[in-house]
Formats: sequence, C-alpha cells, structure tokens
Amino acid sequence: MSEDNETGTSADLTELAKRRGFFTQSAGAYGGVSGFYTFGPQGASLKDNIENSWRDRFTLQEGNMEIDAPTVMPEPVFEASGHLDGFDDMLVECPSCGESHRADHIVEDNTEYEEAEGLGPDRVGQIIEEYELVCPTCGTGLGGRAIEDFSLMFETNIGPGSSSSGYLRPETAQGIFVEFPQLKEYARNRLPFGVTQIGRAYRNEISPRKSLLRVREFTQAELELFVDPEDGDGPDLDSVADVVAPFYGVEQQEAEDGEPLEITVGEAHERGLVADPWIAYYLGAGAEWYRSIGVDMDRFRFRQHLSGERAHYAADCWDAEADVSGPGVEPDWIELAGFAYRSDYDLSKHDEYSDEDYTVFRQYDEPVTVERPTVDPDMSALGPAFGGAAGDVADALAELAAEDPEAFREARSASDRSSGDGEKPRDGDAGEDGSVVVDVDGESYEVPVEQTGFAVEEVTESGEHIVPHVVEPSLGIDRALYTVLDHCYREDEVDGEERTFLELPAEVAPTTVGVFPLMDRDGLSERAQEVAADLREQGLSVAYDDSGAIGRRYRRQDEVGTPFCVTVDYATIGEAEDDSEGEPSEAQSASEPSSGEQPREGTVTVRERDTTAQKRIATEDLPETLVALRDGDAAFSEM
Ligand code: GLY
Repeated sequence: MSEDNETGTSADLTELAKRRGFFTQSAGAYGGVSGFYTFGPQGASLKDNIENSWRDRFTLQEGNMEIDAPTVMPEPVFEASGHLDGFDDMLVECPSCGESHRADHIVEDNTEYEEAEGLGPDRVGQIIEEYELVCPTCGTGLGGRAIEDFSLMFETNIGPGSSSSGYLRPETAQGIFVEFPQLKEYARNRLPFGVTQIGRAYRNEISPRKSLLRVREFTQAELELFVDPEDGDGPDLDSVADVVAPFYGVEQQEAEDGEPLEITVGEAHERGLVADPWIAYYLGAGAEWYRSIGVDMDRFRFRQHLSGERAHYAADCWDAEADVSGPGVEPDWIELAGFAYRSDYDLSKHDEYSDEDYTVFRQYDEPVTVERPTVDPDMSALGPAFGGAAGDVADALAELAAEDPEAFREARSASDRSSGDGEKPRDGDAGEDGSVVVDVDGESYEVPVEQTGFAVEEVTESGEHIVPHVVEPSLGIDRALYTVLDHCYREDEVDGEERTFLELPAEVAPTTVGVFPLMDRDGLSERAQEVAADLREQGLSVAYDDSGAIGRRYRRQDEVGTPFCVTVDYATIGEAEDDSEGEPSEAQSASEPSSGEQPREGTVTVRERDTTAQKRIATEDLPETLVALRDGDAAFSEM
C-alpha cells in the first residue's frame, strides 16, 4: 500500500518513521514500489536489536543451532515443500480499472467475515456477489468476477538461459529443512534439537498494504524444532506455565459472542486448548519475549487457526496477534507470529523427493524381536514371464511383503489347497489360485507365490528409523518492529510543550544514550566527546549532539526512543557555570538536577526519557551505570 493511504496513528507513525529515519518506502526517487521498505539508521538499529534479542532468547538460551541459508533455492525444493502447488492467494481483478485485489481482504474489510481466506475461493466469490462488493480503487462492482489462485512465489532463472528455475524463498524454514541430513549429524542424531535462522523472505503480495505489515520482502526469525512425537520428554513447561495471555481457540471463535480466554499457558495446555506441549511452551516464551521488546500485553492475544486457514503443511497453528488500531477504535489484529505443528510433512516430502535420508534412528529401551517378511523372487521365472518389467515387479513384491504379508500367506494357503476355482485374483492381494498380484505403472502382474521366495524371518531390532516432527515458532521481524513502535508511541506535555516520545525498552532502543555538551564552548564539547567515546568503548550505542538548545536535543532523542541523555556541563569540567545564556527549564535542570542537589565536580546529568527526571552521576561511574540501566540490572528511580 502506498504510504498516503494510511490513517490515524498509523499515519503519525509512518510520518515519524520517515522523518526520524526508521523506515521509508524504497526507491522513492523512482516513484517507489509497493511492498519494499528501507530501514533508515534508527530503524536498522532497532531491527538489529530486536533480532539480537530474539537470537538471545530462542537460539542461545534454548541451546539451539543457527544457520544462514541462501535466499534463492532451486525449483525442486519448492516442488517437494508444496509451495509450487499450494502457496497462492485469491486474486480478483477489476473489470473497469484493471487493478488486482486480494478477494479475501475485500470480504474482510467490508463484511462481518473475519478470516475469509479459510472460506475458499468459491465462497468468497459468492460473498462478493451477495454483498455487492466493489473495487476499492474505482468502485466498480466485482460480483461475478473470477477468483483466481495467484502464486506468491517470485521466480528467477539461475545462471544463463532459462533451464534452471529458482525461487526467492517464501519462508526461511525450507533452508533449514533441506539441510536436515547434515544438521542431524551436528546434533549427533539426538532428538529433540532446534535450528534457527533469521533472514529475508519474499512473497509477491497482490496488494501490499499497511506500511510494514504486508510487504513483499521481509525478515523472518524462525525456529524449527525437530522432535520425536512419541518421546514423552517434552519441554520445561513449568518455566512458562504461569504466563497469562488471551487464548482465542477455534471453539471460542466459532461460538456466538465467543471471547478469548484469559488464562495461563499451563491451563491452556491442561484444558487441551493448546494440545501440543511444545507449542504451549513456545507460546509462553513468545509472550514473554514480545513483552520484553515493548509489545503492550493489553493489545496482544493468541489465536488458533481455523481449519480452512491453516497452511498446507500445518496440523495445528496458533498465531500471536497484536492490535495496531490506535486508541478508541475497533481493534485491528495483525499476525506477529505463527506457532505451527508441521508434523512430519516437510521432512517426509524432502525424504521422498531427494536422494538423502531425512530420518533419525529411534533407539528402543529394550531390543525387540519382530517378524520381518522378505521376498527373494525367482528371476529365472519372472524374467521370461514379464520381460523388461521383471525388476519392477520384484521391487513391487518386496513392497507388498512389507505392507501386506497376509497376501502372501493367503496365496500360499490357496496354493496348498490347490482348489483353483478359476476366479481372478484381486490387485495387491492373494489370488485364489495361489498367486499374488502387484501393480506396476498401472498394470497388474500375477506371480505364483512359489516364485516370490516369500519368507518371514525373526529379527532382533534395537530401534527404528523415524521421520521427526517439526514444531515451528515463526516470527515476522518487520511486524514486530512496527508493533513495538505503535505500542510505544506516546504523546505528553513537558514544560508546557507537546512532546512525542517512544517508550522503547532500553534493550532494543536504537540509541541507548544521547551525549550533549551544555554549550559548544569552554572545552565542554571536547569533554563531552571524551565521555561519548568512553561510553562507546563499553559497547553502548551513543548519539552525540551539540546542535541547538538542550531542550530541542532532548526532544530529538525522545522521538527516537533514546532512554537516557547525558549532559556535560561546567561542573563536569570543574568550573563555575557560565549562566549568561538562559535555557528552557529542562536545559537549566541539565546542570541542576531535579533532586535539587548542587552540581558536584566531575559529574554529569543523566536524564531519563519517560519521566524526564534527572540525576547527577560521577563521570567515572557513567559507563558502568548506563550498561546496568540498559540491561535492566539497575533502575533509574533507585539510583
Ligand atoms: N514458516 C512459516 C511461514 O513462513 O509462514
């Protein structure tokens, strides 16, 4: 969507984002193109901090492995994954202006239907007709227009010519799945293990809209946890069991006047609402993480996918959703993350389509003795009987023995009885005349059981090969960033002036500290530069600003969410203050803290963004103090 279509808080936010260097539509000099955004200096830093916070929580603290796979992958990967066939959106084209729109969004925006994607194209077409819905661009009626499947994949050619097709990845997940044969070795073939990846993904959205919320290139942070579905050792659910969140299950969504249940993660799992313990665990971890980066938990919920809404690979899925509507209007819930139970779908597909092994060996507690049916076909009989198909017939006999050994036993009994009533045997089953029948390329082959070499061996097995199941928390970083900006956006009044500020948690704020010399003279700038350099040396992100009145400098940092500002004044350099130039009151108090204490030599003023309260701190203690404040190891109010 072009930026000028936005309203309310979203418009304020987009204006602030552009003016202060968070994000802006890309290539504006050439008219821009919908769905592509450039993060400016503040935005890139905020994005990095969010990514690093995610990495810390979901890779490092969980003991997972992180990889970095290419964004372009060859076509067979997406044939196997199902994206080539099933990764479509519903497109409707206006007969008058020719504009393309997402049919399900037109329905959601203009009717009471909330999740139209799950209704399917036929029903969406009917609703467009019933409600006489029109083209959002020109107002022409869309009733009766075809609803088409539109692939969201960006196609490209790999190398010269067009013989080798590739696609920009629509999810980072496939880059993890295809490497599973190596990854399981790194994990020493032990389940469960998790692999993470943060990177760009691409979807050719029909109508990008809502600023960063629906874009064509975006950053995903995905964790693929590989589990044995029969392994009773689940996650450490107790560590998140007390996290409270609204859970909006299928049942609550389908009930008339159904509301989300405000319950703990532990209860949601115990009630069977969130059936899988790993999904429950990640919902708890996810809620805590979103809170830590600045998402307002009063505007946050978990919503279960309705059955028609689930992606082709998902057996169950819960979305984390945030309301970004702004105050006083109907909530506008957007998806922040999907927590999907992908079962063995992905690994089974890659196992089937590739030449590699996507299984792991599950060791039994005790070895077990099992019967293993085998065949040893008599090729001297099958060759003359079936010619070139004899090899395939032998393979089909082996498969049939594994799947249906009873067919061979029945054929043998029939052969022993030698009844021979002339009836034709059934496909893939025992013939009445003592044969088994297999199907090869649509043709039936009847093989006398004596020629199959069928036998049942008793073998002792220590385990079996299984295809692991996948639990996937998949987060959108751009949407998290947008939501954090939206939820942390504040307006208040300081010294009789309106102020806009971002109440960003210090951990993710693009800049941790602004450093200002009170005046650009008398050696204050030089000292302030030294202070800034000391802070940078401690790994703090510092903005140095000596331009304009101190009050203005505070406002600039407030607007980009800098949690602390340090002012170097005459006390810092051990000289009497030259107060010949008056400053607004915030500036005066820069050298005279809100506590009323007199400036001490060798100290600076530290001012907190949210309260605008100020304290004097010894310059030598400053780096350590600010690091503690950033990391949440100290509170400004208690200093
Ligand atoms: N990997 C999940 C998604 O891209 O939606």
